[in-house]
Amino acid sequence: MCGIVGAVAQRNVTGILVEGLKRLEYRGYDSAGVAVLETENNHLKCLKSVGKVNQLAEKVAQNDIDGQTGIAHTRWATHGVPSEDNAHPHVSGDRFALVHNGIIENYSALRKSLQQDGYQFISETDTEVVVHLIHKLCTKNGLSLLEAVKTMVKDLHGAYGLCVIDKEQPDRLIVARSGSPLVIGVGIGENFVASDPLALGQVTDQYIYLEEGDIAEVTKDNIDIFANGEIVNREVTRIRGEIDDVTKGDYGHFMLKEIYEQSRVIQNTLNGRISAEHVLEESFGVKAKAIFDQITSVQIVACGTSHHAGLITKYWLESIAGIPCHVDIASDYRYRRIIVQPGTLFVTISQSGETADTLAALRYANELSYVASMAICNVATSSLVRESDFSLLTMAGREIGVASTKAFTTQLVALLLMTLVLGRRHGLTEEKESGYVHDLHKLPALVTDVLKQDTAIQQLSIQFADKHHALFLGRGPQYPVAKEGALKLKEISYIHAEAYPAGELKHGPLALVDDRMPVVAVAPNDELLGKLKGNLAEVSARGGKLFVFADESAGFDDEEEYQLIKLPAVPEVLAPILYTIPLQLLSYHVAILKGTDVDHPRNLAKSVTVE
Ligand code: AGP
Repeated sequence: MCGIVGAVAQRNVTGILVEGLKRLEYRGYDSAGVAVLETENNHLKCLKSVGKVNQLAEKVAQNDIDGQTGIAHTRWATHGVPSEDNAHPHVSGDRFALVHNGIIENYSALRKSLQQDGYQFISETDTEVVVHLIHKLCTKNGLSLLEAVKTMVKDLHGAYGLCVIDKEQPDRLIVARSGSPLVIGVGIGENFVASDPLALGQVTDQYIYLEEGDIAEVTKDNIDIFANGEIVNREVTRIRGEIDDVTKGDYGHFMLKEIYEQSRVIQNTLNGRISAEHVLEESFGVKAKAIFDQITSVQIVACGTSHHAGLITKYWLESIAGIPCHVDIASDYRYRRIIVQPGTLFVTISQSGETADTLAALRYANELSYVASMAICNVATSSLVRESDFSLLTMAGREIGVASTKAFTTQLVALLLMTLVLGRRHGLTEEKESGYVHDLHKLPALVTDVLKQDTAIQQLSIQFADKHHALFLGRGPQYPVAKEGALKLKEISYIHAEAYPAGELKHGPLALVDDRMPVVAVAPNDELLGKLKGNLAEVSARGGKLFVFADESAGFDDEEEYQLIKLPAVPEVLAPILYTIPLQLLSYHVAILKGTDVDHPRNLAKSVTVE
């Protein structure tokens, strides 16, 4: 995924820009570039390279660039192959340079109209139109850089975080944000811009997070932010110490920190991939569209928690996209004879991208007749990503707790995006897609709401700490959620936990139910709620203790019969993501009461790189 860094200072900013790009390498990219206004001759110097930031750094060192204003970028190809021409910054008239994250959906029409005006395009990207539009407004209409950006964004459809410099106004950066995040790093006599504050940890600890629609003019001594044309104040946030994923901050354990990060990392996973109304398909990469056009079924393969994400996706693909989906555990799949249906996309899901069984399954699948292989993965440089035809990265940041939490919910977000783009080809209407995208926009705030139940869940956990077994129940897509809840409890509290589709109870497991068996039920207000209630009545009738995570309007009002955690009303499609979070918290608090090593449970490894 692309990354932006910008700087305006009284010192040479080249090193700051390159270091910023290095800090963004974790996001995945295939080319990089930098543009600096050289102090000595005010020349716009632009260098690019395909491959690693280190290769760009070598070029920069050889060219001995010295400038006080500059921008830099790591590009993950969407429109056009990875190449120096397609890499950012894009330049117009040897005067303006621009970097952009996101996707300009109407670039093709804009490109045609600019070509009629005589503009020549060097790249195949959607971005290049933006810098030429700015050039046109400044040179033909006589606007300042700020005014040109304010005017130009009205013509853009899609998602963007962008930063532009102008040789004629060398003391400033102009930035604009819509659908792709940007942060301003506040310094003393110098200021910075980045798509992720991580890029600026070397130069500042003070940040202004731009909001949707904000445009800002940043000089070394001043920051003006505009919303709807008016100057606005945005709070400066101080983040002490380096921003990273490898410290616990104020949290006692990485697992808890990672549970609480979910709102932010889900937003990161959505950024630049959805517009107000639909999924930006180009964010799946240059090869994706032609592949998706051929797909009539999906085969998913993964292990552990990632496998549970696959099981939920099966429900989505079949009910929303209307295409069949098979889900297998990688260690089983890799040793089976596989019959591949024509038109099948092979999808692996993995946090680490190094899980031995998943990797072996991919290598096996690559020998079979799938249309293509796609990885949903959290590590851009992993073997899984490198060996797949294409990938969609989750933006969970580094996950350290062995028990996977934020990786799972971001996988689900990525898989729902995949479901929607495949669904388009199989009868999912624009109207329905836009309904789902509206729901996705609400997701980060809903995660925050659900986390408010933490104290209540902590109280509930007391009743689990002395138990040896627990049952988790769900129906439909909540069954894999129940499986994930049971896995979390097993993994970190060492309590034996099993999940069942609630309708299966009376086919065996009901024999286990007595007053020493806690039974956890996942009960959003969906079409199977009535059926689930019937199953829970069977448990109550046998003296079982019911712990129900339910929609506040689901009608579980008999406090004697149920121990209840009420969750806000949520869109049905998002329920599997949101109902997982209280189960993560439950297992965490039970483990704390039992005094286990939460982040490093016995016998387990974070990344299972052996068979
Ligand atoms: C989940 O909490 C586990 N740590 C484990 O099941 C994990 O999901 C599994 O090993 C797969 O790992 P991966 O996502 O890195 O491939």
